[in-house]
Amino acid sequence: MTAPVRVWARVLETRKASGDTFWIEVDCPSIAEQARPGQFVMLGTGLSDVAAPLLPRPFSIGAREADGRLGFLLRVFGAGTQRLSAVVPGDDLLVLGPLGRPFTLSPDRPIVCLAGGVGLAPFLFVGAEAKRDARDVRIVYGERTADRVFDPELIRRITGVEPDLRTEDGSLGRRGLVIDDLDLDDRPQLLACGPDPMLRACADLARRHDLPLQVSVEEHMGCGVGTCQGCVVLSSEGEWIKSCTEGPVFDARELAWRT
Ligand SMILES: Cc1cc2nc3c(=O)[nH]c(=O)nc-3n(C[C@H](O)[C@H](O)[C@H](O)COP(=O)(O)OP(=O)(O)OC[C@H]3O[C@@H](n4cnc5c(N)ncnc54)[C@H](O)[C@@H]3O)c2cc1C
Ligand code: FES
Repeated sequence: MTAPVRVWARVLETRKASGDTFWIEVDCPSIAEQARPGQFVMLGTGLSDVAAPLLPRPFSIGAREADGRLGFLLRVFGAGTQRLSAVVPGDDLLVLGPLGRPFTLSPDRPIVCLAGGVGLAPFLFVGAEAKRDARDVRIVYGERTADRVFDPELIRRITGVEPDLRTEDGSLGRRGLVIDDLDLDDRPQLLACGPDPMLRACADLARRHDLPLQVSVEEHMGCGVGTCQGCVVLSSEGEWIKSCTEGPVFDARELAWRT
């Protein structure tokens, strides 16, 4: 069990990894030593920048290095991510974490990560840890178009895994979706993170092939620690559950998949 901490972390490196997507590394040993793949942090600028949005924003932990570095993949959507994408080495970020329930990796099945868009982030961490443990791990990563694809060379460097790239228009990698033409003969454990329609399609795929699936949901989050109720999802039992504390990783069978 991890105990979240709230610390200022020095930005060590930033780089543009595609049109509107950045890779940011911070020095954060107290969170790095506890972090597990699938967990997230709340990232903010605190009150150091009065022009910035006050609420921190949730980000999956994309990498954890032995020297205490954490890496984050950050795509710009609105004011919060715009501000966070502008940090430079030497700036400090307020980091609260590690938060949430991590992935539980099957001890004996190969692992197939299905990543849509920024849903790639947790699988950078999963891929690196699984590779380190000499596990059979595949990363199937889809974007709409080539200009949105997170630098494949950086994926290889972080994880040691050659990503199976898909774009919807075929402008890079295979044309199609992450669930198209998958080789499931070795009965893998499926892990998925991405937009809701993609997760729904993954749940359907897992059901049809009778394969275990865990999904990481990306609901809007206000606090990240269970107090604001902003992040609820509907369970298969018909109850609203908080994805920040009960998730963000769920067994797909725990959730109601609305059509
Ligand atoms: C557990 C978790 C992990 C995440 N990990 C990452 C990550 O690793 N990298 C990354 O780039 N992003 C990640 N996100 C999404 C990220 O937190 C949001 O993009 C961010 O909060 C948007 O803040 P903003 O101020 O830029 O946009 P806002 O001004 O809050 O919103 C801008 C637009 O984006 C939409 N939007 C905002 N958040 C979401 C969301 N979660 N899903 C769908 N639409 C949204 C809004 O409805 C609005 O239309 C994660 C979210 C969660 C819950
Ligand atoms: S984000 Fe506030 S309760 Fe989950």
